[in-house]
Amino acid sequence: MNDKQVTFDDLVSLSKRRGIAFPSSDIYGGIQSTWDYGYLGTEMKRNIRELWWKNVVQKRDNVFGIEAAIITNPSVWEASGHVSNFTDPLVDCLECNGRFRADHIVDDVCPECRVKTKFTDERNFNLLFKTYVGPVEDDANIAYLRPETAQGMFVNFTNYQNTIRRKIPFGIAQIGKSFRNEITPGQFIFRTREFEQMEMEFFCAPEESKKFHEYWKKERMDWYINELQIPESKLRLRDHEKDELAHYSDATADIEFNFPWGWGELEGIAHRGDFDLSAHATGSGKKITALNIENNEHFIPHVIEPAVGVDRILFAILCASYNEEQLEDGESRILLRLPESIAPIQIAVLPLSKKDELTPIARNIVEDLRENFRVEYDETQSIGKRYRRQDEIGTPYCVTCDFDSLDDQAVTVRFRDSMEQERIKISELKNYFNLKMNTNDKKVILLHPYIIMV
Ligand code: GAP
Repeated sequence: MNDKQVTFDDLVSLSKRRGIAFPSSDIYGGIQSTWDYGYLGTEMKRNIRELWWKNVVQKRDNVFGIEAAIITNPSVWEASGHVSNFTDPLVDCLECNGRFRADHIVDDVCPECRVKTKFTDERNFNLLFKTYVGPVEDDANIAYLRPETAQGMFVNFTNYQNTIRRKIPFGIAQIGKSFRNEITPGQFIFRTREFEQMEMEFFCAPEESKKFHEYWKKERMDWYINELQIPESKLRLRDHEKDELAHYSDATADIEFNFPWGWGELEGIAHRGDFDLSAHATGSGKKITALNIENNEHFIPHVIEPAVGVDRILFAILCASYNEEQLEDGESRILLRLPESIAPIQIAVLPLSKKDELTPIARNIVEDLRENFRVEYDETQSIGKRYRRQDEIGTPYCVTCDFDSLDDQAVTVRFRDSMEQERIKISELKNYFNLKMNTNDKKVILLHPYIIMV
């Protein structure tokens, strides 16, 4: 079986065809580079969020969640430097009037009309989305949609110190939407104006900050490899050059993924020093410090920040898992080799035919498995076509009820990657999948203790 190299068009086409993502407000012609997630994409994003939350928050006793507001007092963004510094360099092409990020132009050629070196001078364009709070649209009522979730953690640092009953080091983590008026959004869900971030601000003593920066770089890289099962060969860590650093950063390392067009940022792990807490102390006039109990002195903690976009992870996972295989019988199939934890459907239950005797068996299996797994019932089309569809959406297991099931009370389990099949008793199915997918359904395991000993 030969594997084909995935292209950008393969992924966009699969996503639209199967319900992962659609152009937003499509019936009105869409709105540039904005996407709505379909039923499969929604489920995959939920799985990514849950895995991140479990790894970054739930399994640690020193990281705490937060849900901060998207619209804040505009002083937050003045103090953070975003109002004055959150800009990208913008140029216009004098030939076609297209607008581009200057740092995205390769070899002085316009990406639109391909004419060389005919651009306006660079000017800075601020990426903040502006809005007005209340009925009057004047400068006094300007507010900004947050361009990163991070500031919600900084402005709440003192609240957390007072309520979590822990000394630093500790982290505050958030998942939520962010908004940037990007000059050139694009490449499907890689760069959009509205996107979802998962960020954690880890507050520590200045002398420990380098150690924790290294620690989080390793933790995050391990997560992609072990939990998301992205092949190590598709990932790399790259330290930013001094002139690439964001205005708040002392040092940043990106985890990069090898996208169809080459290496690109997946996650940033920044050393933000004391930039943000100092800025908010100055901006608000409030003291924002931690106490060193050894020498009884107050100090401003430093911050290490792993920050990533949910949408970007989803795109990387689609790239890493997409495969087109030539089969021995001359047919070919598309498949997503998704990990079970990300697959939007984990088990598809398929009666071989729509005959009355088979569908109730299949429906009962669905009801039985639904509580523990993401299950889909499908009785349309031929069994071959149904298998192909499940392969394309990354379903790791198909359960087929056939006419023998009426006699032997067993079904066929088909594996997505190898296409091998196994006959399993219907009464054993739930335990079988619990073991396969390593879920902890204590109730079932207690009812069948012999399974544990296998
Ligand atoms: N708080 C730090 C921060 O926001 P960033 O590198 O600008 O840092 C962090 O963003 C992550 O958010 C990126 O690595 C990327 O995964 C995601 N991200 C940033 N801008 C994005 C956009 N326009 N569309 C989709 N994801 C984006």
